[in-house]
Amino acid sequence: MSDKKIESILNENRVFPPSDAFVAAARLKPADAEALYAEAAADYEGFWARLAREEIAWATPFTEVLDASNAPNYRWFADGRLNVSYNCLDMNLAERAGKTAIIFEGEGGDQRTLTYRELTDEVARFANALKAHGVATGDRVVIYMPMVPEAVIAMQACARIGAIHSVVFGGFSANSLRDRIIDAGAKMLITADGGHRGGRVVALKAAADEALAAGCETIETVIVLKRADCGAAMQDGRDVWWSDAVAGQSTTCDPVPVDAEHPLFLLYTSGSTGKPKGIQHSSAGYLLAAKLTSQWTFDLHDDDVFWCTADVGWVTGHSYVAYGPLAAGATVVMYEGAPTVPDGGRFWSICERHGVTIFYTAPTAIRALMKFGDDVPAQYDLSSLRLLGSVGEPINPEAWIWYHEVIGHGRCPIVDTWWQTETGSIMITPLPGVTPTKPGSCTKALPGIDVDIVDEAGNPVGSPEEGGYIVIKRPWPSMLRTIWGDNDRYIETYWQKFDNRYYMAGDSAHRDADGYIWMMGRIDDVLNVSGHRLGTMEVESALVAHDSVVEAAVVGFPHDIKGEGIFAYVVLRGERPTGDAAESLTATLRDWVGKQVGAIAKPDEIRFADNLPKTRSGKIMRRLLRVIARGEEITQDTSTLENEAILDQLRGKA
Ligand code: WT7
Repeated sequence: MSDKKIESILNENRVFPPSDAFVAAARLKPADAEALYAEAAADYEGFWARLAREEIAWATPFTEVLDASNAPNYRWFADGRLNVSYNCLDMNLAERAGKTAIIFEGEGGDQRTLTYRELTDEVARFANALKAHGVATGDRVVIYMPMVPEAVIAMQACARIGAIHSVVFGGFSANSLRDRIIDAGAKMLITADGGHRGGRVVALKAAADEALAAGCETIETVIVLKRADCGAAMQDGRDVWWSDAVAGQSTTCDPVPVDAEHPLFLLYTSGSTGKPKGIQHSSAGYLLAAKLTSQWTFDLHDDDVFWCTADVGWVTGHSYVAYGPLAAGATVVMYEGAPTVPDGGRFWSICERHGVTIFYTAPTAIRALMKFGDDVPAQYDLSSLRLLGSVGEPINPEAWIWYHEVIGHGRCPIVDTWWQTETGSIMITPLPGVTPTKPGSCTKALPGIDVDIVDEAGNPVGSPEEGGYIVIKRPWPSMLRTIWGDNDRYIETYWQKFDNRYYMAGDSAHRDADGYIWMMGRIDDVLNVSGHRLGTMEVESALVAHDSVVEAAVVGFPHDIKGEGIFAYVVLRGERPTGDAAESLTATLRDWVGKQVGAIAKPDEIRFADNLPKTRSGKIMRRLLRVIARGEEITQDTSTLENEAILDQLRGKA
């Protein structure tokens, strides 16, 4: 391993072009890509309009392309009408009714496949069940499910009747679930008794009950899938088993055409404040880009078996499990559990047994699986793989090289895809049959995506290597439309910085001399823990909600596997504990945060202090806290600190 590390560092400027064989079979070859870039440059709206006509089956064709009259609340294809589920399912029936749409594997090893015909029937039955329980077009439905086919069925069923889904990741706590239900004003909750994760049963219905007991008045019905057989307390008149809800329902359910701009879903994500934002996506623009990027970035062919390991609780699981690949008629793999059950070979075993050809995962998973050693993947036949993908954070060159050599056997291009919950689909990525890759760079923007790196004043950075803000200079079809219930925050967060002209992503980046983009991380108080976004404020609010805590400051620090770890400085109401007392309170507070937000938010390290370092105006000196969390020497001036002795406490030395 250490040899590899040295090698990857020495060769960071190595370039990996796709093989001739890959290029020969690719959907997009260099000339195709060039033509797409040229078309978008010559007529931006015409480019998107052509693709929208070709790729989407419209119930009513659109005549308007981009409506910027209310910028930055842009609208795309606004007078067209369509149904997303019709596009993902029915449209595939003519040619692919018997083709496998979903290959599912539970953590315990149970397996199930659904053809496009079967999936379409199940979606229709469940959509009829939704209607029978009073869900109508425009109603919000919260989905809190394990990673099982019914999660996708529920999403597609909502889409079929124009209900707006909001999937809440099954790892989030009852509190987080409640906040999201209330913010969305959801009418229905779809959940399961439990799911399997990490060798344990995650009791989802119990968490849902806790959320509902704390006031979610808008919820009228809870549909409960029996998955883990762990029992569920069913409340009469409110709770219905999934199997009862679909019993006797017809497999015909006419898809409801909705406006192109009708919200397809909300997905909550963290920002700089304690309150998650309900990112609102559209129907047509979102579908178009989810489908196109599935085809362009992953080079999807009809015989591919595509596995995106993301949970449907994240945007990746929306765009590259539930929508994009289905719209493209692909076979997708879904796996319920953890990558390490029963051992660190599980992912590779799934690839071998199901003949996965395209594998898309996160750097944190790659790093975790690397730790098991090269001989674990070596036990599996990975020859079906032809393309690998990465998403969620910058992939470190060491992990990239391992992925390339040990998993891809040097044969598979790697697409490092940069995008966000807000962008809806991949924005910056290699095109696998076109772009030579460099380990650690997400390379260049896709055709039709106008990305730039700008300085404080919004001007493009001058020279290569100069860092700046990642901005998107023109609206794109799958962009977020607003923040649910808070359009002011939408404008403030993403647009105000550059006078409503450019979308500001919140990441910094630089370009090298070849024009390749290298992401440098967030510019706001947002952490990236295992590829998941977490606001420092969210963790801080959770900590101060504990009786014993007066004040808390949370910063990130580099973490081997998670990418970024969570470091919390905590001031208590009483005495500062040391030794065993400190250890036990640390455990208590970690559990507490897990309960308040979810297990991913548990601080890796907690340090107790009598005070936090503040400037004269009372602002916490976060930069200083970051330096200490990284274990680095303090070089900045600390003489303005009220109490310099506090530094030793913060360092854990007193
Ligand atoms: C943030 C978005 C969109 C999928 C999962 C995360 C970081 C994402 C990359 C990448 C460098 C990346 C950015 C971005 N990020 N992909 N390939 N290289 N950074 O979605 O939770 O909305 O987080 O993840 O910081 O802003 P998300």
